[in-house]
Amino acid sequence: MQTIIEPFRIKSVEPIRLTTRAERDQLIAEAGFNPFKLRADDVTIDLLTDSGTSAMSANQWGALMRGDESYAGAKSWYRFRDTVREIFGFEHVVPTHQGRAAERILFSLTVKPGQIVPNNTHFDTTRANIESQGGVAVDLPCAASADPNTPAPFKGDMDLDALAALLEAHGPAQIPLVMITVTNNSAGGQPVSLANIEAAADLAHAHGVPFYVDACRFAENAWLIKQREPGCADLSVREIVRRMLAKADGCTMSAKKDAFANIGGFLCTRDPVLAQQERDLLILTEGYPTYGGLAGRDLEAIAVGLQEVLDPDYLAYRTTSIGYVVDRLHALGVPVVRPAGGHAIYLDAKAMLPHIEPLAYPGQALCVALYQEAGIRGVEIGTVMFGYDPHTDSERPAKWELVRLAVPRRVYTQSHMDYVIEAVNAVYARRHEIRGLKIVSAPKFLRHFTAAFDWR
Ligand code: F0G
Repeated sequence: MQTIIEPFRIKSVEPIRLTTRAERDQLIAEAGFNPFKLRADDVTIDLLTDSGTSAMSANQWGALMRGDESYAGAKSWYRFRDTVREIFGFEHVVPTHQGRAAERILFSLTVKPGQIVPNNTHFDTTRANIESQGGVAVDLPCAASADPNTPAPFKGDMDLDALAALLEAHGPAQIPLVMITVTNNSAGGQPVSLANIEAAADLAHAHGVPFYVDACRFAENAWLIKQREPGCADLSVREIVRRMLAKADGCTMSAKKDAFANIGGFLCTRDPVLAQQERDLLILTEGYPTYGGLAGRDLEAIAVGLQEVLDPDYLAYRTTSIGYVVDRLHALGVPVVRPAGGHAIYLDAKAMLPHIEPLAYPGQALCVALYQEAGIRGVEIGTVMFGYDPHTDSERPAKWELVRLAVPRRVYTQSHMDYVIEAVNAVYARRHEIRGLKIVSAPKFLRHFTAAFDWR
């Protein structure tokens, strides 16, 4: 069969409240033209994030009842730890309440003021956790990532020449670790090739520097390697995951993505001394080392989800449904980042709305238009998110003006995706009418979450 179906049936449904255009115009104005400030109930299709928004399976819900809530050494902990060990291949597993807690623990033990941490592209919490230690987070995306329209297979790759030059110039005294993010969320959700991961690890190790993977979307990345990388088609997803991590000294993970959990994360290492230091820190703020801020039932849900996400039928459906939206939009002439990545559709607001200058926030204007048109909630990744420098109190255009439509896992069906395509196309057709915005109020840090806007 040519038709790729959702490989699940629906046992429990959540109603979507439908709104009128007039209601949405009023609601978004009341929210200061910032979709973060809408009530979720006022959103028809919520594509704000794929994080913590997955639908759990019947097996996951069943496993919740098995949750052992003993404070220390619960059965759920051992099931969780053994699953992570089996899939990821690391000896030491430290549970955390979500990905950024793993980042905070890792970087507070490894990064000293002035030290540099390179990454293909740091996610914003990764960057913030490095910077809060006084470190310098450096992005080294590959050249192909700069053009949203080049359909190169691995636009998430790291620029290896730039990494080699950085390692040569600064060495292990100044670079406590090298990190690579799979898939590269902040650069269009694009995958990283196995060859690139292995070469980056080899380069780091040749300079005596540890190598880490931000593994949030490890299964989607592995699947895209299987589809796109020469020589990998016959490897199983599990084998690819093991190879992605085989040369790594550790990883951070948000179980809110590729573990189908609504909360959770972990930190892994092969180093017993570092693992002990991590557990010592964990006890201070997260919890005892066998639960790390999670309930026993959360550990169960993650253990089941990590196995389920490796199902090739699921991964084929997941990447096909994202690719379907990207290809249809491209065929309609809508500027969209290509090729499709693993978890989101990225609209190119700069190309779509050239009449809106960067400091009038074309990405934000597009988000507002999508909500008004059809109740779709996406997120701006552009000058609102990255354009303000709190140290100099000044603003400058960001590199990209994108709108991310992140697709929650196993939540929406093909007809929801068709609705999204129709809505984006309708907004595209009236793009010349869309106006720029100005900021009315905003905090100094992470302003995109709470800023209020008005029309220019
Ligand atoms: N690393 C990457 C690549 C991420 O995308 C995220 C979260 C994190 C780390 C932090 O994990 O949320 O569990 O603390 N990304 C979400 C998003 C929030 O919408 O892309 P967390």
